[in-house]
Amino acid sequence: MNRRDFIKNSCTACLSVTVLSSLASSCTSIRYTGGKLGKDGITLNKAEFKIKQKGSIAYSSFIIVRNDALKYPICVYRYNDTEYTALWMKCTHQGAELQALGDVLHCPAHGSEFNNKGQVINGPADSNLRAFPVAVNNDELFIDLRKQA
Ligand code: FES
Repeated sequence: MNRRDFIKNSCTACLSVTVLSSLASSCTSIRYTGGKLGKDGITLNKAEFKIKQKGSIAYSSFIIVRNDALKYPICVYRYNDTEYTALWMKCTHQGAELQALGDVLHCPAHGSEFNNKGQVINGPADSNLRAFPVAVNNDELFIDLRKQA
């Protein structure tokens, strides 16, 4: 292999590694769980928010509950160990399923956006998301699907 081929192959390999690692990190940033569905709601383990890193523990700011028994997923935001919000990921404009982009829920249909409390921050939607009460019981969260927060 001559010098030119070596440089060309090395650059291609570096670029591939960079692209693949950025794709892998973006794929791992959203966490999903099925939760444990009961008669009145869904139970999650708080540990599902934990991200184990080298020597320390961090927490994901949200996880998505996707359960076959539910028509839409629920995005659960964690503010601290005792404060959470559970948001129905159904756009209040025309009902498209929302996408979680960090602290913003984005609607791919017409561009509405909601903050991590479910409040509209960009239309055309003009009403906030449905939010469910979240009870914190020791190591578990209970999302009460009977009520609206
Ligand atoms: S359905 Fe979400 S903005 Fe229209």
